[in-house]
Amino acid sequence: MNLVLMGLPGAGKGTQAERIVEKYNIPHISTGDMFRAAMKEGTELGLKAKSFMDQGQLVPDEVTIGIVRERLEKEDCKNGFLLDGFPRTVPQADALEQILEDLGRKIDYVINVKVDQSILMERLTGRRICKDCGATYHLVFNPPSEEGKCDKCGGELYQRADDNEETVGNRLEVNVKQSKPLLDFYKSKGYLQNIDGQQPIGNVFNDIDKLLGGRV
Ligand code: AP5
Ligand code: ZN
Repeated sequence: MNLVLMGLPGAGKGTQAERIVEKYNIPHISTGDMFRAAMKEGTELGLKAKSFMDQGQLVPDEVTIGIVRERLEKEDCKNGFLLDGFPRTVPQADALEQILEDLGRKIDYVINVKVDQSILMERLTGRRICKDCGATYHLVFNPPSEEGKCDKCGGELYQRADDNEETVGNRLEVNVKQSKPLLDFYKSKGYLQNIDGQQPIGNVFNDIDKLLGGRV
């Protein structure tokens, strides 16, 4: 199954992606995670991405499209993939159509996790992530059993550098502007499926699971 997960920052893409890839056994391709890994390793890509991410701006299309093409060409994507946070602009969506055409594939669903913008600041500033396995928590909405510790692996929890109020404000502004034409693009292609992201995490997943209908 070839899936694209869309939604504003904090809509719950990463949270749902963890559950989708576990059940449907497809690789999770998050451009944000790829940039953060490159930053940690101090590669040229990481240095390039850092200046944009620190300000809550989008990394330029030509950089982002290149890394996604490389990733989708890998063997483990042959039986499907879940793209999380890509595409984020219409040129990225056009490029994805071309990449998939070159690979003889097509998108099955674009899942848009819909939430009201007003709740996103609280979701993002309260987010905590496991240093070791990447699991996502929230101080109020999805707290770990033991403060500061991952339920799954015992790893230490940290706050993302771009989850401070100022950067979140920029991220929301940038992404709101980009998302409308992108949603129109996918609606016109007939791929778009809206999911209510303001329900409890498990219910959001149930709706996605129902849409995918156990098709693997
Ligand atoms: P990226 O890492 O993709 O971040 P983002 O889009 O800002 O999205 P987030 O990861 O912040 O949110 P999410 O929707 O995954 O929410 P989560 O599930 O964690 O991108 C970061 C940066 O990289 C960008 O700003 C840009 O610079 C660059 N970048 C990445 N891709 C790019 C691209 N294609 N082009 C150009 N630049 C790119 O949930 C949030 C919180 O809410 C968590 O604490 C969670 O526990 C909680 N929560 C989740 N669901 C619920 C629920 N249903 N109810 C209550 N709480 C919930
Ligand atoms: Zn963990």
